[in-house]
Amino acid sequence: MAETLHSDQQPPHGEAGERVERLWARSMTASIVVLIGVIVFTSAHWGLHPPSRLETIDSTTLHQGGEFSEANLGTFIAPDGSAVVRLVAQQYAFVPSCVLVPAGVPVTMRLASADVVHGFLIQGTNVNAMVVPGYVTTVSTTFQEAGDRLMPCHEFCGVGHQAMWAHVRIVDAKQFPFEDAKAKAVSCAG
Ligand code: CUA
Repeated sequence: MAETLHSDQQPPHGEAGERVERLWARSMTASIVVLIGVIVFTSAHWGLHPPSRLETIDSTTLHQGGEFSEANLGTFIAPDGSAVVRLVAQQYAFVPSCVLVPAGVPVTMRLASADVVHGFLIQGTNVNAMVVPGYVTTVSTTFQEAGDRLMPCHEFCGVGHQAMWAHVRIVDAKQFPFEDAKAKAVSCAG
């Protein structure tokens, strides 16, 4: 290509150039500091849980047995009285599609993906995480108020992504079937 650079397109030389570079470096440093500050503030203020527990699982054999086999999906009451919810995320649904949990009881949610990366959040709570194939995502929370909440997938996972969500039904502890849930997984899926 021929010489097309005009003199007014040349970068500034000498002192002017250094001034521009210093200004650029300062504004970049400032934006990095602001972004880190936003991450620290939102993590502390909203109690976000990065999916940091490294538990691995073979995503291709979830249905063949083990923790995430069909009979184990739903809510169990552990010996210590807390609730453990197991879900599988797959294109394009969560199993079970309706999660039943008692209010005011510590809940540990354990999710595994059967195929690609999914995400989930529960509206109005601090629950928000990704579900990466090959790993178990664990989130702990306590739902304070009874009511129905939506749990959409928030990672684009394919053409059916926007239709991928579950209900979370939080019921008063008096209405939760604690005895049943000690023996088998319970849910509100039809
Ligand atoms: Cu699963 Cu989007």
